[in-house]
Amino acid sequence: MDKETILVIDFGGQYNQLIARRVREANVYCEVLAYTRTIDEIRACRPKGIIFTGGPATVCDSDAPMCDKAIFELGVPVLGICYGAQLMSHMLGGSVKRADSREYGKMTLRLGQSRLFENMESETQCWMSHTYYVDSVPSGFSVTAETDTCPVAAFENPAQKLYAVQFHPEVNHTPRGFDMLRNFLYGICGCKGDWQMADYAANYIAQAKEKYAGKKVLCALSGGVDSSVAAVLLSRAVGKNLTCIFVDHGLLRKNEGDEVEEVFTKQFDINLIRVNCEERFLSKLANVREPEQKRRIIGEEFIRVFEDEANKIGEVDYLVQGTIYPDVVESGSGKSAKIKSHHNVGALPDVIKFKEIVEPLRMLFKDEVRALGTALGIPDNLVWRQPFPGPGLAVRVIGCITKDKLDILREADAIFREELSVAKLDRNINQYFAVITDMRSVGVMGDERTYDYTIALRAVTTTDFMTADWARIPYDVLERVSNRIVNEVPHINRIVYDITSKPPATIEWE
Ligand code: XMP
Repeated sequence: MDKETILVIDFGGQYNQLIARRVREANVYCEVLAYTRTIDEIRACRPKGIIFTGGPATVCDSDAPMCDKAIFELGVPVLGICYGAQLMSHMLGGSVKRADSREYGKMTLRLGQSRLFENMESETQCWMSHTYYVDSVPSGFSVTAETDTCPVAAFENPAQKLYAVQFHPEVNHTPRGFDMLRNFLYGICGCKGDWQMADYAANYIAQAKEKYAGKKVLCALSGGVDSSVAAVLLSRAVGKNLTCIFVDHGLLRKNEGDEVEEVFTKQFDINLIRVNCEERFLSKLANVREPEQKRRIIGEEFIRVFEDEANKIGEVDYLVQGTIYPDVVESGSGKSAKIKSHHNVGALPDVIKFKEIVEPLRMLFKDEVRALGTALGIPDNLVWRQPFPGPGLAVRVIGCITKDKLDILREADAIFREELSVAKLDRNINQYFAVITDMRSVGVMGDERTYDYTIALRAVTTTDFMTADWARIPYDVLERVSNRIVNEVPHINRIVYDITSKPPATIEWE
């Protein structure tokens, strides 16, 4: 039986991958194709439906991206979004005009009768972002939604299965948008929605088996979610031809290095080289206080260690990276001020000899990568691992790094994580950890005066890690954490909880 496929035709819109993600979220398989693909290529995919994305161009321009008009005659339902809607109108005889001012932001949308809007209230919100608008619809089409400033917010020709919306149903600011997409997929295209992440894995592995058969593949494994999922995917395809190098710089959390080794060697039988180089890193970091200098040293040292190990293996064909879609978007802009140099392993491709980079997660969002990890049988504690910075605990030891401070921090951090997990808060708080400050203060324990370190607890809720709020952890949980840390971890006599959001603070303390 044919796999149900929806094609997302990409006209360069900001949200094109988000559209694809929504389709997958509705359990329908989807592929994103450039608008330049020929009608034969599109037909060969046997799509159940086609979605046109938005895009920055203007349909009236002579060089505007177009599609083959034959798409509209395939008998396959088409949904045009934003630029895609204007394109449909323009190509089928409607008209598109420039508005006096741009319509941008949340608008009230009044809905008429349409299968796209089935089971919806007559008024809802939508997200608009356009300057040009559809002024008149092609003949045979009717207008099905409007806003105060956009008389043609949606239009359609159900007999020809052609639908268009000026707004963006794929973003969260259109609260009914996902339902509209589902109506398109299920009600209009007749999809059944039987696709799952396990199918993504099976599909990828089957293709990778063909493409990478007999080739040598190398992966820098950090133990984080992304590189772990990428490594397991590739190992399913090429088996022992994949080598993972795991640089244990001694700046990992409690037991983390052993856990990673255990999963990859025992559970998955992957060729893993764990390089224990705590001393090498700590000696380079001795007496270094400045956060950016710490990052630079760790980044450089990481590359050197990796290079040494990779040289032992010799030239490889492919280098696997766990890049996910938000990384692609973030590294694309590059215009904002540098607050911290996060991407400390970015220089790897410059020093390793390989033919091509493989990025199997490039189109996926974080939660999809997690779902994929689960589908591949990666254990929960790894799949649900919170983000952990490349420089590790080095940026959570304020001031100079010593083995003693690291060990104290590891113990305190483990207690904090354990208590949040017991309180079942760990999946709702997006990042949480302990920081060992560079400050000592006076306390009293038993009858003795103490002069010890202060631990700061940091926990934030966020969706994008660009902005974050401090998590409202119940006092009794904080109390348990505080009691346990001062009782169980030597050299800590004071605990503080960080109640700053980002901005003005950042999530990490350094
Ligand atoms: P900040 O501290 O900038 O952190 O609010 C935002 C997110 O990025 C992580 N982070 C890093 N990740 N290398 C990394 O790979 C780094 O140097 C680094 N610094 C911060 C941080 O943990 C949070 O998730």
